[in-house]
Parts: sequence; C-alpha cells; structure tokens
Amino acid sequence: MSEIKFSTSDSPAKKTSKPQLRVFGAAVEGKNVSLVGSDLLTTEQLQALGVTGKAESIVRTLAGQSTVAIIGLGSEDPSIDDWRDLGGALGRGLGDNEALELHLPVSDLPRVEALFEGIALGNYSYEGKPDKKTHHLKRVHLVGPLSIDKVALARVEALASAVHLARNLAARPANLLFPSAFVDLAEKQTADTQIEVQVWDEKKLAKDGFGLISAVGMGSVRPPRLVKLSYTPSKGNKHLALVGKGITFDTGGLAVKPLGGMLGMKYDMAGAATVFGAIKAIAELELPIKVTAYLCLAENMPSGSAMRPGDVFVAKNGKTVEVTNPDAEGRLVLADGISAASTEHPDLIVDVATLTGAARVALGVRYAGLMGSAEGVRRLESASARAGEPVWAMPLAKELRAHLDSPVADLQNSKVGSSFGGMIVGGWFLSEFVGLGKNGEKIDWAHLDIAGPADNEGSAYGYTPKGPTGAMLRSLVALAEEMCAD
Ligand code: BES
Ligand code: MN
Ligand code: ZN
Repeated sequence: MSEIKFSTSDSPAKKTSKPQLRVFGAAVEGKNVSLVGSDLLTTEQLQALGVTGKAESIVRTLAGQSTVAIIGLGSEDPSIDDWRDLGGALGRGLGDNEALELHLPVSDLPRVEALFEGIALGNYSYEGKPDKKTHHLKRVHLVGPLSIDKVALARVEALASAVHLARNLAARPANLLFPSAFVDLAEKQTADTQIEVQVWDEKKLAKDGFGLISAVGMGSVRPPRLVKLSYTPSKGNKHLALVGKGITFDTGGLAVKPLGGMLGMKYDMAGAATVFGAIKAIAELELPIKVTAYLCLAENMPSGSAMRPGDVFVAKNGKTVEVTNPDAEGRLVLADGISAASTEHPDLIVDVATLTGAARVALGVRYAGLMGSAEGVRRLESASARAGEPVWAMPLAKELRAHLDSPVADLQNSKVGSSFGGMIVGGWFLSEFVGLGKNGEKIDWAHLDIAGPADNEGSAYGYTPKGPTGAMLRSLVALAEEMCAD
C-alpha cells in the first residue's frame, strides 16, 4: 500500500522536526552538467561528485548544512513518461527517507501527476518481505508554481495501491495463494467497496457448464474457482468486461514443465491480479462505467485426476475442445471466462493473461502482445499509450487458424509440434469464445498477452521493481476512463 502524502506549493514544505531531503535535477548542456533552477552546486562540484545528468542516476551529498539528492534528468524537457520513470527512480532510490522536498523543473500538471505516480509506484516492496530501506517514504512536497488538485492525487493513490496489490498477489507463493485463497482475499478486499462478488466453486462450475475451467482444475487437490466482480455505478451507459488468467501455479499438467520453466509459474495468475486491481481502482475512483471482472482461477497440476492429452471437454459456450496440450491451460480457463462475459453483451471484453512463452520470444519482456477486433486494439493502443505501458499489436494471421482444427472436436488447444506464431495461435483460440453483442455482431474484444512484462526478471528500472510488475493495470483504468469520456 502506498501511503505517501503528496503536496505542492510555491514555498518549501512546512518545517517539521523531521529532516527533509531536498532533491534537485541535473541536466547536461553542451559538456557541462548543472543543477536546473539552482546554483547550490557549481559544475565543477557536480563533476567532482560524479553527477552525470544521466536519466535516473542519483547522487546524494551534503550541501552547506543540509543533505541533498541530485537526480539526472536525462534530457532538457523530460516527457510525461520520462517523469514517471524519474519519479520511480526517486521512489526506489530515496525510499529510506521519510520526507522529500522536490526542486525539480516539472513544466506542467500532467508531468507533476506522472512524477508523483512514478514515486508511488517505485516505492514498493513485497508485503511478504517488507524492506524499510525502500518503503519508508511518508511525505513528498514539490516546490513550484504548479498546484495539483485532490482528484489527481486520489488517482495517483488509487492506481499505486492497486498496482502494489497486483504485484503482491503475483509474488505470493502458490502454497499460500491457491484458487480458494484468492477468492477469500477478493471477498475481503471488496467488502467495503461498491463491488459485488459472485463465486463459482467446483460443483457450481460443473453444474453451470464451465467445462474448461473444471478440466484444468481437476488435476489439483485445490479445486478451481470462478469469481465475477461487478461494479455497477448509477451513472454511465458503457459496459467493460475484464477477464483474467488466474492459474495460481502452472506445472504444465501432465505435459509437466522442466524445473527451469516451472520456477516462477506462481505468477501465472498475474492476469487475474491485474484485472482485480483494475476494477478496484475503477470503483475507488467512482468512474461512471459498468465494469465486470472475471477471475478464472485454477491450479494446473499433474495427477491421477488430471486432464490427459487428447481429452475432449465442452466449453461454457457449447464448443467442444480437444486438449492436445495440457500446458496450454490458460486459454482453456479464459475461454470459459470470455464466454461468460459475452452473455452480458458488454461493449468491450479485454482479457489479460501470461499466455505464451512465444510472446516473450517475439516481443521481449517489456511489451505486451495485443490482439483482437480492430476497435478493441485501437482502444487498448490509446489507453496504454496514455498510461505509458508499451503494447504491440500482432496480426491474427489467417493461415495460423488451421493450427486449431481438431479431428474430434470443434477446436484443439494447440498444435503439438509447431511453435510458429505461438502467441497468435493463442489469440485465435480465445477469439472463438467471444460472443455476439446486442446488435448481433461480434463483441469488441482485446487480448493482452503479458507473459513478458508481468514479471521483471532483470533489475529494477524506472518505476518497475524486480519481480512482478502489475503491468497493464493502469492501462485498463485509462481504458475505462476513455470509455467514459465518449
Ligand atoms: N504460463 C505459460 C506461458 C508462459 C511461459 C508464461 C513462460 C511466462 C513464461 C502457459 O500456460 C504455457 O505453458 N504456454 C505454452 C503454450 C503452448 C503449450 C502452446 C508455452 O508457451 O509453451
Ligand atoms: Mn501452461
Ligand atoms: Zn500458464
């Protein structure tokens, strides 16, 4: 949880007994590095201190009687996205201080908001191993002519606490976070919100025809669950449905993964954590749009009761599916979630999933793969650009659809022996479960494959910590905002 108090004013923060660390920005002009808007330290002194002006680099020193920190700005006029990253570096790097007083050349209000957002996002440590050194920040005051309003501050706070929640959930080990534990947590965390919760246990899943969630979950002693969260404000005539892959652990099932590929698969529920955090933030901000979120929760285990390669199951929408590969389980649970979401004819369905290793091969680990209807893709591209979260649209290439033709069912879940276009084949599979809208046409839909950006295996950068990132959550909130606006 972020509990930082942010403020802005023309004058330095009110004096308190607690010391405040003053923060200045350094930029390079020609060959000279200098503090922007301050002559506290000369170019020579800065050089002697090793201040380079390189983006996100931080140097601390004593200037006169007080301690200061100097952050490299990287450019003369950092963009909104740059300020979010610079804020992230401050949140991570100066989190051992209780109070910061920022003397930074932020040129407009959107940049101030991004700076604060970055600080709040960066000031994170896993709840299971709280780190005082990175998670101590209480007050941040920006000195300057721009004054941020309450609404913007509430947004920063809501987004940061939702992202922190999603990161904590994805980092939580699978022996502690299994389907029913996720349900308990979702119920607790929505108790005093406007979000309604409906839960399907394994019996109700079977009875109501969720054949694919049931199939994935049947190998585990921890049975599957489906959670439907509904936020229905009195205002707003749009309806957004979110569907999250919530595999609390992916062993590969009977196609068991080797250890190297299995380690880390506790984060295979990052999609569910992301849509859960997003609907929480949307409800907290009281956005005038109806939102439903489906968490498709199951543990993919090999056992005597696990689904076998070649088994055929009936999906929620009536289509039959041959499970050629039990390790392609994410698309199975999502298929039932997307089918269920379709029955309410929302304006847009967005599913979020750590779906394929192929997404990492194609796009690396910072871009989410994006597929869907033209309108779905357009909307997600716009929202993610505003949130500063990179996505890349992939084509649903026609010739790859044939990979899903099964001799014994309507569909098979993968083509064993061919990894060509693996991310796209996953997208094709999901598209088969998007139903019709009220107008009789296919509901607009977008699929986000976050197998890359959901987890940062490298070192921290910008506002992104090592480990689970909460990637795409802020884009979903931005999407809801944009849908409200038109
Ligand atoms: N959860 C994995 C995808 C994944 C792999 C995410 C590596 C992050 C890192 C998914 O369930 C999976 O196993 N996908 C298979 C699909 C294949 C069997 C069609 C894959 O990517 O190999
Ligand atoms: Mn798998
Ligand atoms: Zn998986």
